[in-house]
Amino acid sequence: MRIGVPKEIQAGEKRVATVPEVVEKLIRLGFTVAVESGAGEGANCPDDAYREAGAEVLGREDLWAASDIILKVRAPQVHPELAIDEVESLREGATLVSFLWPAQNPGLLQRLASRRATVFAMDSVPRISRAQKLDALSSMSNIAGYRAVIEAANQFGRFFTGQVTAAGKVPPAKVFVIGVGVAGLAAIGTARGLGAIVRASDTRPEVRDQVKSLGGEFVEVDHHEDGATAGGHGKVMSEAYRKAQHDLYARQSMDVDIVITTALLPGQPAPKLITAGMVESMRPGSVIVDLAAEQGGNCELTVPGQVVVRYGVTIIGYTDLPSRLSRQASTLYATNLLRLMEELCPAKDGILHVSMEDEMIRGTTVVKDGVITWPPPPIAVSRMRKNGATAAAPVAVPKAEKPKGPGRMARFASVILLGAACLMFLWVGAKAPPAFLSHFTVFVLACFVGYMVIWNVTPALHTPLMSVTNVISSIITIGALVQMSSPGHPVPILAGIAIVLTSVNMAGGFWVTRRMLGMFRK
Ligand code: NAI
Repeated sequence: MRIGVPKEIQAGEKRVATVPEVVEKLIRLGFTVAVESGAGEGANCPDDAYREAGAEVLGREDLWAASDIILKVRAPQVHPELAIDEVESLREGATLVSFLWPAQNPGLLQRLASRRATVFAMDSVPRISRAQKLDALSSMSNIAGYRAVIEAANQFGRFFTGQVTAAGKVPPAKVFVIGVGVAGLAAIGTARGLGAIVRASDTRPEVRDQVKSLGGEFVEVDHHEDGATAGGHGKVMSEAYRKAQHDLYARQSMDVDIVITTALLPGQPAPKLITAGMVESMRPGSVIVDLAAEQGGNCELTVPGQVVVRYGVTIIGYTDLPSRLSRQASTLYATNLLRLMEELCPAKDGILHVSMEDEMIRGTTVVKDGVITWPPPPIAVSRMRKNGATAAAPVAVPKAEKPKGPGRMARFASVILLGAACLMFLWVGAKAPPAFLSHFTVFVLACFVGYMVIWNVTPALHTPLMSVTNVISSIITIGALVQMSSPGHPVPILAGIAIVLTSVNMAGGFWVTRRMLGMFRK
């Protein structure tokens, strides 16, 4: 199949959906790749670089007409001056991958469905561990958080770091970050790296340790209420909480030099957290960067897309922060799309296989062969939350999506497996010697308890969990080593197999842990 990458038509958008390094990898998956002439200009990717990587460079009309799969950054739109409607340009039955915001754009979904398209929305990738490699929202928020600090530094009239010089003592800047999601964490890390004193606040108390680990201080609202939902996002807080939060933010505004706000709940307008009064109380020369500007802004005085000065405070409402680091943003986004293509084309034959049984693909697919499949059924991202946190509202499954043949087959297979296991246990109970039976009972119970414990661990703790499995593996290895010298063949052979398998598990665990630690080393 041919992948086409058009030039973005949104005014000021500099990102492109693939970069030359990724083109080579897409070709290795069996696809042919075409790029619209000039598509990568804004991200410093000239046409020649794409040609060298193996892509064809085509004109706009040829590209849309010849592509089976279109990779884009922004949702398809109508260009006001050029009279281009990207939905009309999409070939009947083609596949589209882009940001789409299905909740906000039901009309667009209908129009894409009427073209019998299959559409993957990169903003709808479920937030589960396995899908992190596709999580384009996180990639972009990470860049936005970094760039927010750089924009603030550009407007701020002082150093971030404190200094003692012959000309006098310079106090460090104080930065207050509201909302500790991906963007907030990136902002904390960047501001700390520049030497500022950083404080942060969020309705989810579980982020306290993350703030601390980046060298920030978590400031707590004086009202106990857990702001997290079972889906791992924030929730609308009670009136009493909002009042206490208002008091805290009013005190912080008077004290800090820079406020970076990133607070947002999925599919809702941004909560107003910084009032005009708080802006007025800030020192002249202070800066506010409002990352939630596109959704109405966390600050009452934000003007989306613009920089305004109110009461001597500069308020930055840019809505294109990732595009301001266009090469970086394009590279990360292109890699997220490559990972999606790898999932959709496991055979590397250049053909897409869309498995709606896979919850990662199911969540990302919003239209399949002309049928709207959004919203997907809910996925329990974070199990067993404490403090009575509310679960994500159940969403109706569209009729067209009820599991068909393969789902029923899978259920049938599990019933057969369960039946076979019961028969085996009965046979073991009747025939096995009593000594074996007691060991076997302990073994089965251990498997059951281990499975239940691990199943209930939140995805955020999967990495530390690997350390625990490493310990279990080493116990198994010791047991197997002891058994190696047993008489006869079966026991030493089984012990040898156990040693090989647990060694693979341990080596893999250490390797992954080393990679994780490497990410935190400078
Ligand atoms: P996220 O959903 O992971 O994080 C939002 C955080 O805000 C969560 O930790 C949540 O608990 C917190 N929050 C929600 N309501 C709150 C409240 N009332 N008070 C305090 N904290 C609250 O989102 P992510 O990925 O970190 O992105 C953050 C924001 O940045 C989003 O608004 C996103 O749309 C925006 N963004 C803006 C860009 C731009 O160019 N301006 C580019 C990329 C992201």
